[in-house]
Amino acid sequence: MHKLINNLLILILSVLSGTAYAGLEADKPTVLITGANRGIGLEFVRQYSALDWNIIATVRNPRKAKALKALANEDPNIIIEQLDVTDHTRIDWLADIYADQPIDILLSNAGLTPKYVSAFKRVKGIDFNMASKSFEINAVGPLKLSQAFMTHVAASQQKKIIIISSRAASFELGPKMPMMYSYRASKAALNMFMHILAFETPKQGVTLTLISPGAVNTMEPGGIKIPNSIEPSESIEKMIALIERLTLEDNGRFLSFADGSDLGW
Ligand SMILES: NC(=O)c1ccc[n+]([C@@H]2O[C@H](COP(=O)([O-])OP(=O)(O)OC[C@H]3O[C@@H](n4cnc5c(N)ncnc54)[C@H](OP(=O)(O)O)[C@@H]3O)[C@@H](O)[C@H]2O)c1
Repeated sequence: MHKLINNLLILILSVLSGTAYAGLEADKPTVLITGANRGIGLEFVRQYSALDWNIIATVRNPRKAKALKALANEDPNIIIEQLDVTDHTRIDWLADIYADQPIDILLSNAGLTPKYVSAFKRVKGIDFNMASKSFEINAVGPLKLSQAFMTHVAASQQKKIIIISSRAASFELGPKMPMMYSYRASKAALNMFMHILAFETPKQGVTLTLISPGAVNTMEPGGIKIPNSIEPSESIEKMIALIERLTLEDNGRFLSFADGSDLGW
């Protein structure tokens, strides 16, 4: 009886919130992507849509997600959901809404990236508010997301949690200079959270893998292009092919988008 009331409440809430949950097709694989309104996340949506997947695309501000909405207008299997990854109540709420939905790939992409002015400053210029926010968004958010959606992934066919990390987090490979304190430390914390979590995932049959997407040109028009960066289409095409090849053997690995080789921590 309690379960029935709960399901009824979720149905009413999903109708009120405009969730088009019913749009997902049972015979298609499903990917949930965070930070899906621009950059790498948006390109993942574009390419998984072309591959005919169900997509739960989460964004902080659906009203402003014009490019994503244009894709969703063309593809009824793209469902847009509001999510700030620091809002743990909302993550749990979404996990409840999608309780009966297997999620083949949980793709944690959202991140606070070093596009803010103080990111490249030396120690005197560190913005400690940004340092805390970076940790909450880049490290704690993906851990909470993984916790909340573990059962959905375990119930799916492919059972994969993919975490977009960065070479900048690596002690070995990161730039040997004082820059991006908050970003690099938060991504290193992300790597450690996931390294630990990967000891739990095999019991559920779930493969948890971290991927570095390379230097990708995700600057908005007018921004400064990262030197030697590639376009999102190239990075995402390679990551999707890599994700497709992953098996439980790849659980707990930190891989390069380019050829799936291991990256130093
Ligand atoms: N581009 C690169 O060269 C590169 C290299 C290594 C790793 N990465 C990683 O790849 C991922 C995507 O990078 P990108 O270049 O596409 O970044 P981006 O263009 O800066 O986009 C970041 C995305 O994350 C979202 N986001 C930020 N804070 C959020 C929060 N609290 N809750 C939910 N969503 C939030 C943003 O939403 P809003 O639009 O609402 O801000 C946006 O959709 C990040 O994890 C980044 O660290 C990128």
